Amino acid sequence: MKTVAIVAGARPNFMKIAPIVRALRACGNGLAFKIVHTGQHYDREMNGVFFEELGIPPPDVCFESGSGSHARQTAKIMLAFEDYCLGCRADLVLVVGDVNSTLACAIVAKKQRIPVAHVEAGLRSNDMAMPEEINRIVTDAISDLFFVTEPGAVGNLLREGKARDRVFHVGHVMVDNLLYQRDKLARADPATLASSLLKARYRRYGVVTLHRPSNVDDPATLRRIAGALRNAARQLPLIFPVHPRSRANLRKFGIDLGARVVPTPPLSYMEFLNLWKDAVVVLTDSGGLQEETTALGVPCITLRENTERPVTVEEGTNVVAGTDPARIEQALARVLRGEGKPGARPHLWDGRSAERIVEILRRELLPVSYPRIAA
Ligand code: UD1
Repeated sequence: MKTVAIVAGARPNFMKIAPIVRALRACGNGLAFKIVHTGQHYDREMNGVFFEELGIPPPDVCFESGSGSHARQTAKIMLAFEDYCLGCRADLVLVVGDVNSTLACAIVAKKQRIPVAHVEAGLRSNDMAMPEEINRIVTDAISDLFFVTEPGAVGNLLREGKARDRVFHVGHVMVDNLLYQRDKLARADPATLASSLLKARYRRYGVVTLHRPSNVDDPATLRRIAGALRNAARQLPLIFPVHPRSRANLRKFGIDLGARVVPTPPLSYMEFLNLWKDAVVVLTDSGGLQEETTALGVPCITLRENTERPVTVEEGTNVVAGTDPARIEQALARVLRGEGKPGARPHLWDGRSAERIVEILRRELLPVSYPRIAA
C-alpha cells in the first residue's frame, strides 16, 4: 500500500482535490490517501462549506496557519508540514494550483525526499508581480510529476527543461468537478438555493468576481475598476460576491459601487454555480473562473492584463480586457450585441482528468503491477 498526501489550503484548491479524492477512492487497492489542510483559508464561507458541498472527507490534519504576510503564511505552513511529513510516511505529496500552500508544501516534501506531483503545472502569466506566478515557477522547478491542463503549459515545462515523460497532459480536474456539480445541480430543487432568488429578481444579469491584490490592494486601481463596473451596470445589473480582501479594501478606500452592482457575501460552490452558469456575462480576475466559463460556454471578460490560461482565449469564451474602463465597456458591448466569442471546450476537459491522474500515480507508485509509461 502506498500513501498520497493531498495538500489543500485555500478556496480554489478544494474544487481541484474533490475529483482526485473521488478517483482515488474508486481505484481500489494499492493507493491510500491523506488530506492535509494547511488552514490558509479558514472562514466557513471560504472553506468548510466547500468540503461539505463537494463531498470531500474531513482533512486528516489541519494546521490552522491562517492569514498573514506571504512570508509569515508560507513559513507557518512549512513548519507545520515539516512536522507532519516527519511522522506521516507519505510516498508522494500531491499539490494543486498556485497558492502559498502549494509552494510551501512542495518545498518541504522535496527536502524530505518525498516525490512531489503538481496538478495544474506549467501555467505561466510571465507576470512576476503576481504572487501565484512565483509559486508556480518554484513549485514546478522542484516537482517530479507534472499534470497539465492545456498544451501551452506542456510547452512551458519542456522549454524549462522538464523530461517529456514526466509531463502528462491530463485535462483539468477543476472541470471534472464542475461537470459533476453541474449534473448534481440539475437534479436539485432550485428553490433550495438562495441565489435562485437573485436570479428571479434580476433575470438578465452579469456576475463579477474580483480579488487579485494587483486589482484590489491599490486604491487608484480599485477606484478605476469600480468606475468601470458602475458604468457596465447601467447596461446590465451585476451581482458581485465579494471576497474578504476586496470587501476590506472597498470599505477602507470608501469606494461606492453604485446601486446596480449588487454585493453579496462569498457564495458556496453550488450557490455560485447556480448564479454564473445562467449569467449573460462574467467579469472576473479569477484564474479558475476563466476556465470554468470556457467549459460551460458562458462569455467571460477578464479584468487583468494577462492570463496564464491562454487556451481560454484561443479556444474558449474568454476575452482579456485589462482594467481600462474603455476596453471593458467595448468587450461588454460586444457580448450584449450577441457578438461574444462562441468558444469550445478544450481537449481533455471532459470530466475524466482525475481518473487519468490516478492511473498515472498507480503506474508510478506501484511499479510491480504497473510498468512505467514509455516516453
Ligand atoms: C489566496 C491565493 C490566491 C487565490 C485566493 C482565492 C495565494 C498567494 N493567494 O489569495 O491565489 O486566488 O486565495 O481566494 O496563496 N480572509 C478571510 N477569511 C479567510 C481567508 C482570508 O477573511 O478564510 C481574509 C484575510 O483578511 C486575509 C485576506 O482575506 O488577509 C486575504 O487572504 P489570503 O489567503 O492572504 O489571500 P487571498 O487574497 O485569499
